[in-house]
Parts: sequence; structure tokens; C-alpha cells
Amino acid sequence: MTRYVLLLVTVVVPSVLVIPSAARDLHSQGRVATSPTDTAITSRRATRIADSVLALMTLEEKLGQLTQAPAGWGQTGPTVDAAGEQLVREGKLGSILSLWGADVTRRMQRVAVEESRLRIPLIFGYDVIHGMRTIFPVPLAMAATFDSAAAARAARIAAVEATAMGVHWTFAPMVDIARDARWGRIVEGAGEDPYLGSVMAIAQVRGYQGDNLRSPTALLATAKHFAAYGAAEAGRDYNVVSLSEHDLWNVYLPPFHAAVRAGVGSLMASFNEINGTPTHASDWLLTSVLRDQWRYRGMVVADWSGVWELMNHGIAADSLTAARRALRAGVDLEMSSALYRNTLSAEVRAGRFPLPVVDTAVHRILRVKAALGLFADPYRGVSIDRERREVLTPQHRAAAREIAREAIVLLTNNTVAGAPALPLLRRNLRSLAVIGALANDSAAPLGPWSGAGRKEDVVSVLAGVRNALPNVQINYAPGVPLDTVRVEGAVRTEGIAAAEQLARTADAVLLVLGESADMSGEGASRSSVELPGAQLQLAQAVVRAARSATPAKPVVVVLLGGRPLAVQWLADSASALVMSWLLGVEHGNALADVLLGDHAPSGKLPVTFPRVTGQVPIYYNHKNTGRPPVDRQKYTSNYIDASWTPLFPFGHGLSYATFNYANLRLSRDSLRGSDSVIVAVDVTNSGARAGTDVAQLYLRDDAASVTRPVRELRGFVRVPLQPGEMRTLRWRLGADDLAFHDRDMRRVVEPGTFTVWVGGSSAATLQGRFTVTGDVVVLAAPPPRFR
Ligand code: NOJ
Repeated sequence: MTRYVLLLVTVVVPSVLVIPSAARDLHSQGRVATSPTDTAITSRRATRIADSVLALMTLEEKLGQLTQAPAGWGQTGPTVDAAGEQLVREGKLGSILSLWGADVTRRMQRVAVEESRLRIPLIFGYDVIHGMRTIFPVPLAMAATFDSAAAARAARIAAVEATAMGVHWTFAPMVDIARDARWGRIVEGAGEDPYLGSVMAIAQVRGYQGDNLRSPTALLATAKHFAAYGAAEAGRDYNVVSLSEHDLWNVYLPPFHAAVRAGVGSLMASFNEINGTPTHASDWLLTSVLRDQWRYRGMVVADWSGVWELMNHGIAADSLTAARRALRAGVDLEMSSALYRNTLSAEVRAGRFPLPVVDTAVHRILRVKAALGLFADPYRGVSIDRERREVLTPQHRAAAREIAREAIVLLTNNTVAGAPALPLLRRNLRSLAVIGALANDSAAPLGPWSGAGRKEDVVSVLAGVRNALPNVQINYAPGVPLDTVRVEGAVRTEGIAAAEQLARTADAVLLVLGESADMSGEGASRSSVELPGAQLQLAQAVVRAARSATPAKPVVVVLLGGRPLAVQWLADSASALVMSWLLGVEHGNALADVLLGDHAPSGKLPVTFPRVTGQVPIYYNHKNTGRPPVDRQKYTSNYIDASWTPLFPFGHGLSYATFNYANLRLSRDSLRGSDSVIVAVDVTNSGARAGTDVAQLYLRDDAASVTRPVRELRGFVRVPLQPGEMRTLRWRLGADDLAFHDRDMRRVVEPGTFTVWVGGSSAATLQGRFTVTGDVVVLAAPPPRFR
């Protein structure tokens, strides 16, 4: 799949771009290929090692192997205390999380392989989410690139750096579909679309793991959180989930299946329940679906205290029951709580818990360790010298800058004094007012997970603009602080007057607003997705001041943040509006590249932006209702106090070029369900500058036996075009693109008409229609009975 995705962006066929269907790989139920990871994990070598080690282990050592404990934080970085070290020595720990650094990981590994009885190496896991020391755009921003090669490249660099710092295993990618902007963890995934989510999942798995798990730079990946964690009710983190079997299979599971098919070596269970069973206790999900149906070979790790939390969920009266249920369901390695180790040994000895269940889990963990080459070289070539050489190199920083600018989304760009507000033209600028606390914040671009990233490595917005405009007078005012988000009556506005003053006197204004790093991420859900604190008040004052000056000044608004924001007023009032997310160490430079026109923006929204919080959850691939919304018409699916339409649709993003889509044609009007049809479209750069658009193809089954989304993404491609240049794009749509789960949960293609759209966003209007004739084609039998 990645090979094919890479092909999309690298093959240059003069004027015709042929885009093969990705769906076969993404959706088909059977396994068509064995990935290098599977081969490594199931190799005779790995199996032999696991067999022989298992045969020597005591029950206590086995339960220890199923236990992962967190590192502590010492004076200079992560560390393990004497008690933890003793557990390693006694063979009572199989893994440590959040321990990194060549020196400390080598020291702990030495205890394991020289001082413990069986010398079983430890596996070190860490949340390397969007970079280790060179921090890249947060995953939601990465998805905005619609560039799987970029995602794979960032993951590869993260793997090189993390492994140089002693890490073997990352808890990434998070492949949870998120439709609710309130949910803080929306920042960690690829957004609301299962197709884009699957493409990004595959790219990252391949990027982290590489082609050979035994390579010293291979980082074991984790697809998490299995599954449907993103469907948390009310967008509140860790909340219960209530969804249909159809939603699970059509929306939430595809990216996990894609990651499994790409050979991901580990999966993490999610905190939520599905259908009344918390996933940490779901033998249906972790065994029937994952192992029996998908033939997954890697290991399953709990989420932090997820086994223990089965008691809070109310399905285990005590810790022993929690441990029994989780291990039996298929959670192999317990993170942070140690119930397996502390409760199960007497049970096994008394014959009340089957030893083979313990052995199976231990065997899986040992096999993964063997596949990573840990038994052959427990240090995997880690040294202080390698750490120094391979981390935050100029090449890595250059990649971070290139990728970051691809993630920036130009939301609006209005004409000011006869020209578009962006790009800002150097020749017109003698002075620039930079306003907003986030502009001078070097922590925000690191995002809520920052690996070994450091604030001092970050180029802030202000620093980036200063780097790019050495001869321009740049004046900065913070305006209002962001930390007023929860403090009622404590909104501090005294900085607004100084900001207004700057806005009046500069040639142009750059107003930087949004969210800091800790306003999204784990445990950071918001009840409102409007601008936090008094930022709207600041924006209104600054825009008023800039407009009333003579001559009037353009106000370019840049948003930072990890979620879609409801910014209707800014969309209506700013000269230009830019979503810059949280872009990592090169945030400021990348943003300056785009604002000044050194790079034409090409990012697209991987999530729908609402107008007001009350519209959330709002997503483009929704089902229709019996009464589809009609503006201002009562008794249709509408609001009486707000529009039902999004502020910006999924897939939206402008460039400095303009693109025109025309001439959609189909290779045939009718086909059988097992056939394919080619969709061709001409796209032209009708603007005066070069640019890249992300051409998107959407599909709808117009009338099926079950309700289907109003449209669904089924293909995309980045198309670079010179001014006036035209290219023909061709997609082949086959059975896998047309299929869905029917009432009996079979995967089928049904006869009837299908509508296809192609364009630059999910609001594309250029369309065609074809008919599928003949019988229902069954692509796959129903999955295991939902329970
Ligand atoms: C809890 C989070 O849910 C998970 O994503 C993360 O990997 C673990 N903590 C470990 O930090």
C-alpha cells in the first residue's frame, strides 16, 4: 500500500495521472500479503527463541514478563528507582515505558541481561507521537498534508532518533477516527475520515518499523486505541461509547485493519467500552476479530491502568477478576498497574486460571522481542555517540520545515486594495505588527506530546517572521493571555490597548490566536471550541483599529491549535485566515515560508470546522435523514438559531493558485458489481502562480439496503501544476470502493446507481453517475457475532 501511495506522488506522467484504487488494500477482509513484520514475528527464529526461553521460565517470571512499569523522572531526565531496578533483576518486569536516553536505557538493559536469572532483555516503549527530538507537526496537522510520503518520512526520522535514544517501541500511530472537536485527543489522529485515516495509518506504520524489524533504527509501532475511543460521548475524554455495529465496521475499524495489514507489531486497547464491554475485557474484539479474523500476529498492550479500570467500569468486583478478564480477552502486556503479577500466580497454581493463557501472552511478547533482535543485541547499537550524531540533525530539521509547510491550511484569503491579502509582499512591508501571546510561545508548537523535544529547539511564529524579514520593523504585543480559559471573571484585557496601537501604525498585522499545547491532547477536552480566553475580544479590537487607520491595514489571522475551532467571526472579518495547527520545531519558519509566498499552501482540512460548538459532532460523511436540512425551513433537520452547514468543510484549503475541475467522464455508465469503472477529470491551474491541489474523489451509493453516508472519500492525489497547466486524473473504482456492510454484516456491492464527485474539497460539485447491474456481489462473510 505504501509503495503505491508513494508512487502517487512521485510518478510523473506528462499530463495524465493514473490513480489506482487504494480500497482493495484498505478494505478487503482477507489477508493478501504478509508484511515484513509478520514474517519477522512469526519467523522460525523468533518462535524458536520464544519457545526455548518460555520453557525455562518460572510462573513468577512469566507474569513479570507480562508487566510494564513506568519510569520516574530524575534530576536530568527519565530514570528508574532502586525498587524498579530490583524488579528487573528479579525478572518481574518485561518492559519499561517512558524511559529514554542512551545512557539510562543501556544501564537498565544491562541489569536485565547481566543480573537477572534468565537474562531476558527489556523492551522500552515511549509515546513518540510526532517526532522524538525533532518534533514534526501534530498528527492532525500531518493528516492535513494529505501526503502519505510526508507522514512516512516523519515517522522514519522519529524512528531513527528514538532508537538512537534507546527506545524500541512507540505508542503510535493513534488511528482513532474523531468526529467531535471537543475531544482533546482529536489532535493525535488523522481526523474524521476512515479512508484518509487508513492511508495515514499505513504510512506511519511503515515509516516507524521500516522494512526490517531487526535494523537498529526500526521502531515497533502501535495502532491505538483499539477501538472506537474517539467516539467518546459528549467529546469528554475516557467517556463511554455507544455506537452501532455498522459504525464500528464502516467508520472506526478500517484504520486499525489497515495498520494490521501493514504489519503493525503492537496494538493498544482503548479505555472505552463497546456494546457494554470495556475493550480491555473484550474477547470479541481482541481475540475473535483481531486474532481469528484478521490473523494479527503482534502483541496487545493495555492502556495505562486499563486493566485495573475494569473495576471502575463495573465489570470486575476485584482486582483478580479484572486481571483474569483482561488476560483471557487478549491483553498481553499490562501497562502501569500490575494486577497480572500481583494476583494471578496463586490462581494458576490452584488450577483456577489456565497456564496456557499465560504462556500464549508471554510467547507473543518474547517473539516481538526476538523479532526486534533484542536477544541478539539487547542494546541495538545504542551509544551516547550515536545519540549525539543522529538526533536533531540539520537534515531532520529541514524535513520538519518542508513537512510543516505542507500542513498549513489557507482557510480564507480576501482581496485587500485590489490584491489577495496573502502572500504578504516583502516589497510592501516596512513594518509588521505581530500580535498574540501564542506568537511568542515556543512550547505550543511542540503539541501535547513532545517526546524528547525542547522548547529551545522551537522556532516560534515571532522568531520565524523575524528570520524571514530581517529588514522589516517587527513590533510585538501579546494582547491577552490564554490562561483565562477556566477562570471565570478573570479575563485580563489590559494588553488590548497596546495591541490596537501597534495595529494602527504597522503596514500589516499578523494576529496569532488559538490554543496552547495543553488545550488539546489527553485529558484536555473542551466544552466549547470557540477561541479561549479573551482572544475574540482582542481580535475584534485589533481588526477595528486596523480598519479605521489610514490607509487601512490588512489583518492576517493565524490560528494555532490541535482541534477545529469555531471561528465564524474571524472567517468573516480577517483579511486572511490560516490554520497552522501545532507544527513542531520549525513552526515559525514554515509559517513564514507560506505567509511570504516562498511556498504556496496546499494543506486541506482533515476535519470539518463548525460555526458554533453546538453543531458538534459535525462531519462530512454523515448519513442523510428523512428530512435533510433546508435553510430556514422548519421541520427539516435544522437549527432554529444557527446554520446546519459547516464553517469550512472537510478537505477545504486554498492556495495562491486557483484550480478548476472539469470534464468528468466515466469509462462506462453501467457495470456489474465485480467490475470496475475509470473516472477521469481534467484539472487546470487557472491562477497566475504555481501550486499544488489535493484532488479528492467522493462516492455515494444512492439507494442501498441500509443507509449510507451522503458521500465518502475514496481517493485523493496531490497535483502540482504550473500556471495554465492542465492534467488529466484517472481513478479506477472497483468492488472494494463500492462495498459496505449490509444488514447481515456481509461486505457487499449492491446493484443501483452511484454518484461520484471530484474536486478540491468535500463540497465538490462536479459529478457523474453510473449504475451497477446484476446480483449483489458478496466480498466477505459477516465478521464474528458482535458481543
Ligand atoms: C495513556 C494514553 O491513553 C496512551 O495513548 C499512552 O500511550 C499511554 N498513556 C502511555 O503514555
